[in-house]
Amino acid sequence: MNDISFTSRRTRNVSASDDVLELDPFEHASPAPLTPFEIVQEGTEEASVTPAPNQRANDGTETNAPSRTRTMVVSEVAGMAEMVALGLAKDDGLEVSHKRVALSDLVADQDVDLDAIDLIVFQVRTGNDADLKTLRDLKSKRGAALKVLGVSSEMLSLATARALMDAGVDEVMPLTSMQPSSAHADQVEAAVDPAQAIQAGVTRNAVIVAVAGARGGIGTTAFALNLATVLARRAHKKDTGPLPRVAVVDFDFQNGVLGASIDIHDGGAYLELLKGEVEPDQTFVKRALVPYDDGGFDVLSAPASIAPLDALTPGMVATLLDELRLAYDYVVLDLPRSLVDWVDPVLVRADRLYILGDTTVHTVRQMRRMIDLYADDHAALPIDLVVSKQTRPFIPGADIKEAETFLERKLEFWVPDDSRSAKRANDKGRPILHERPKSPIAKAMAPAIGVLREMQASTTRRRA
Ligand SMILES: Nc1ncnc2c1ncn2[C@@H]1O[C@H](COP(=O)(O)OP(=O)(O)OP(=O)(O)O)[C@@H](O)[C@H]1O
Ligand SMILES: [Mg+2]
Repeated sequence: MNDISFTSRRTRNVSASDDVLELDPFEHASPAPLTPFEIVQEGTEEASVTPAPNQRANDGTETNAPSRTRTMVVSEVAGMAEMVALGLAKDDGLEVSHKRVALSDLVADQDVDLDAIDLIVFQVRTGNDADLKTLRDLKSKRGAALKVLGVSSEMLSLATARALMDAGVDEVMPLTSMQPSSAHADQVEAAVDPAQAIQAGVTRNAVIVAVAGARGGIGTTAFALNLATVLARRAHKKDTGPLPRVAVVDFDFQNGVLGASIDIHDGGAYLELLKGEVEPDQTFVKRALVPYDDGGFDVLSAPASIAPLDALTPGMVATLLDELRLAYDYVVLDLPRSLVDWVDPVLVRADRLYILGDTTVHTVRQMRRMIDLYADDHAALPIDLVVSKQTRPFIPGADIKEAETFLERKLEFWVPDDSRSAKRANDKGRPILHERPKSPIAKAMAPAIGVLREMQASTTRRRA
């Protein structure tokens, strides 16, 4: 919702003022309450964090030093950025400044010229999606020109570390091992809770796929189950190696049909989560997801008793998805139609969103509303529109062209009506494409499946 505006004001021109904190490395035992600290031009001594020793000749005059990495340390915790900055400033290769500000607020800070920063060092705030979003935005704007280092005073869960790296953090380090070096080795392992890493076993890096319907009964749940069914199979018969691990989560838990439609029932863990009795960590993931052996995927199905939609919180969803991502290759989410605040962490993490609808005026309008709502704060999220229970006409009529103009997008996939297969599948309690792998639905969904498999295979997608 908030546009990120990069200020063009170059703070290095800001003259020393009351705002500028003069630091003496030997006098920081009791950190003074921090005041905002500006980036200042090299050589304006009164505002440099610490002049690098080898950049001064014995007589104190400046030498022609090689250009140093302009480094900004940020943390909203009083004293933290200052402390880290002091450590880093011992590195001759770094020109360090710091500011008491959360990473997510840095971009809006009028006093900071982000284009003049080569390295951002920030204090990790676990589960903070605003920071993740800021990271993604910064990285998409600056790319490799900007390095980002996360530091944390506590052991991070593997999921948190992975989420940070997915968002573009180059390294994550424990605060205790903050050695002043501009060329840190890969320190992620060190920042991560080793017990949790072991518990997670083979750590994967799931593609997260969200599915939402523009009207009731359009086929959202069936589409999610069909996706899971096909993704859980090998792409080619000749393929060897382990089968992909696929999870399906019924986030439409008030409706509660997903699990029931394939005879999978919740063992009570989902309700414990909704009541806030358990954390959605790896132990929860192992316990709560029930294998659907026939289909080769695992399901988090809705609890038997109805819970309010706001029983889930954004924090719970963020953690659950981060943990699921570590344990699976694909995570398919069946979203509710109601607007919930925890959809935001879903959209932050989703690699793709499918919106299902049809070509009636009412549904097309609803699809447009959903696109506007979901894409608003997540412009980078790929959204595909799926026309459900309809065959793509050979020559699209004016109504379809009008719909696409109104939607400003193509109606990408058309899943034909196959009521016979759907009925058989319902009767047998199986996903349609499990019951009828050769249904025309399979052919229609194949391109979508291909895209998701490519995303999973892409080694550059994430650093996993
Ligand atoms: N392509 C299809 N062709 C024919 N029938 C289908 C197709 N896809 C789904 N169905 C059937 O349509 C009905 C509704 O499907 P589903 O439960 O997936 O819809 P939904 O959008 O999730 O509904 P809800 O709004 O209740 O969550 C089911 O009986 C299902 O078997
Ligand atoms: Mg449904």
